[in-house]
Amino acid sequence: MKSQWSTLRYLSVGSLLCGATLALAGIAQNSKSTPAKLVPTSIQQTMDLLIDPAADSLWESVGTEETAHGTREKQPRTAAEWQKVAGHAQSLVSGAKRLQTPGLPVGANAHSKLADADTPGTRTAAQIREDIDADPAKFRAAAVRLEEAANHALTASRTHNTAEILTAGAELDTACEACHAAYWYPRTPPRHLPSPAEFATQSQHH
Ligand code: HEC
Repeated sequence: MKSQWSTLRYLSVGSLLCGATLALAGIAQNSKSTPAKLVPTSIQQTMDLLIDPAADSLWESVGTEETAHGTREKQPRTAAEWQKVAGHAQSLVSGAKRLQTPGLPVGANAHSKLADADTPGTRTAAQIREDIDADPAKFRAAAVRLEEAANHALTASRTHNTAEILTAGAELDTACEACHAAYWYPRTPPRHLPSPAEFATQSQHH
């Protein structure tokens, strides 16, 4: 009896957590039909609550799936399934627009630190802030690029065009990576090792 109870309790806690996660995803993904109650107040929150979950769902909606009976082309088939994909695309449009808010804080109000902060060379929130402020139009342009890719995905989902969802999915990926490489990832190429001659000149200054 006792062990059954604990199993039940465990299950109900599990489904509560699950429900909370789904509710959050629902808020983020249905911003078109229901106005979002949860408004991301930083770049980090916009990534974690809106852009990242919507992009993952969109990418997962189309592709090749391995099943026990071989491979199966995964794609939205019913009107309801296409509607879901359109919802993800709409969330991405909203997220991309939010990134265009002038002076949107970088992060740290949702988490104690940014993702990948422990990877050497990853830009800190302060460095990212400086880079954005040095040329706000450049950051905005990167967000507009994401918005355009998201709009492409939205049109594709409204016209039920699987091939265009794939193309838009690749455009989205490029838009994410371009902005991350410019603002978030460690700077590459790494600083080169000075040649013996350069090293000698540099040492003379000390
Ligand atoms: C206009 C710029 C821009 C675009 C476009 C962009 N991001 Fe980001 N993203 C950032 C910046 C800056 C950070 C670093 C700050 C941070 O960690 O939130 C970041 C961080 C993240 C993080 C880590 C969040 C955390 O908890 O620290 C995730 C996840 C993420 N982005 C996902 C995505 C995905 C997926 C896309 C594309 C669908 C995307 N981003 C497009 C600017 C962008």
